Amino acid sequence: MTFLNVEEYRRKARRLLPRFVFDYLDGGSEDEVALKENRRAFEAIKMTPRLLNNVSVRDQSVEWFGQRLPMPIVIAPTGLNGLYRRDGDILLARAASRLGIPFTLSTASNNSIEDVAKASNGDLWFQLYVMNRDFADQLVDRALAADFSHLVLTVDVAMGGKRERDERNNFVMPFRFRPRTIADILCHPRWLWDVGRYGAPSMANLATDMVTDPNTQAALLSRKMDASFDWDDLKRLRDRWPRRLLVKGLLHPDDAKRAIALGVDAVVVSNHGGRQLDIAPAPIDALPRFSIVNAPIIVDSGIRRGSDIVKAISLGASAVMIGRAALFGLAVGGEQGVVEVIELLGREIDRTQALLGTRELVRPTSGAFLPDARGALGAD
Ligand SMILES: Cc1cc2nc3c(=O)[nH]c(=O)nc-3n(C[C@H](O)[C@H](O)[C@H](O)COP(=O)(O)O)c2cc1C
Repeated sequence: MTFLNVEEYRRKARRLLPRFVFDYLDGGSEDEVALKENRRAFEAIKMTPRLLNNVSVRDQSVEWFGQRLPMPIVIAPTGLNGLYRRDGDILLARAASRLGIPFTLSTASNNSIEDVAKASNGDLWFQLYVMNRDFADQLVDRALAADFSHLVLTVDVAMGGKRERDERNNFVMPFRFRPRTIADILCHPRWLWDVGRYGAPSMANLATDMVTDPNTQAALLSRKMDASFDWDDLKRLRDRWPRRLLVKGLLHPDDAKRAIALGVDAVVVSNHGGRQLDIAPAPIDALPRFSIVNAPIIVDSGIRRGSDIVKAISLGASAVMIGRAALFGLAVGGEQGVVEVIELLGREIDRTQALLGTRELVRPTSGAFLPDARGALGAD
């Protein structure tokens, strides 16, 4: 079956997954205002085509610290990927490697740092949650030893967001099966065969003798981070990790400037896909204010179309992260499903470029396609 767009993959994933799994993937926090806002904000942005340019050859590659990415996409870190497919992290990493784009492994992954490194020869980034500092140091050292190229510190999880769908489904830790959940699982035989029969996937990065503190696993499962982590700790992390360091989850440009001044290499403007602070603005709306930041910016949250990615680059992003879009592909078709979703986004980027009249992804300085704040077209 051919899926025409990301939304069709989403609908198929909804049919294939038990309700509590789909809701965990798809849901946001509280009233899901930020989740909806992420889409509304992208849809509100209009771009005006400039025509009669020769657009017979088009290029969507971008530069990232001297490296060429064939498309401006990084797979975002997402926890519990083993819920959709067995070895979900490895499948995502392999898909990314086939496409030549980076994959970000979450601290809350179901395949370990070492196993993902062994299974993929692509560009691997590691996302760090700090539940306790000693364990965070161990994770950083392991990611370094396993040759991950970038460390992404997520800072918007001082506490877990209030995910009411998960609470309603009783998908909270410690997880206890209720009769309704069991009935739901039995109605999804493909999922039961691939995932369910092995029981709940474990947090593989924590399944090691190195984790001496029994509270760490519980803290990660309930997304209870070390809320005392601050700028001094970021400085310490900068000193410990010698490769590229990103901070993910910023929405204020002054925070980004401060992080860059501390030696951070780039930032991810994100509201965690609407899963944390429900009153947060859409990152794509916040993005233009980051023009004062002298470093590459990645933006995420709400990307479902190639045209969203063209908009993000035009507003100043160097690349985007995609979370759910890749996971819908994973749930529907495993590694191949992820490749297909991202190739679909690539074709949409290409068509948008052709229709806008641009051979390359344009930077905000060109001002050629986006109306300015008053709705007038900027000068060329
Ligand atoms: C199911 C799920 C799990 C996630 N887990 C993590 C995580 O472990 N670490 C993290 O930094 N962000 C996590 N995120 C946020 C993503 O990295 C990303 O910011 C978000 O998904 C982007 O929005 P999108 O899903 O609309 O593309 C998660 C998102 C989802 C949907």
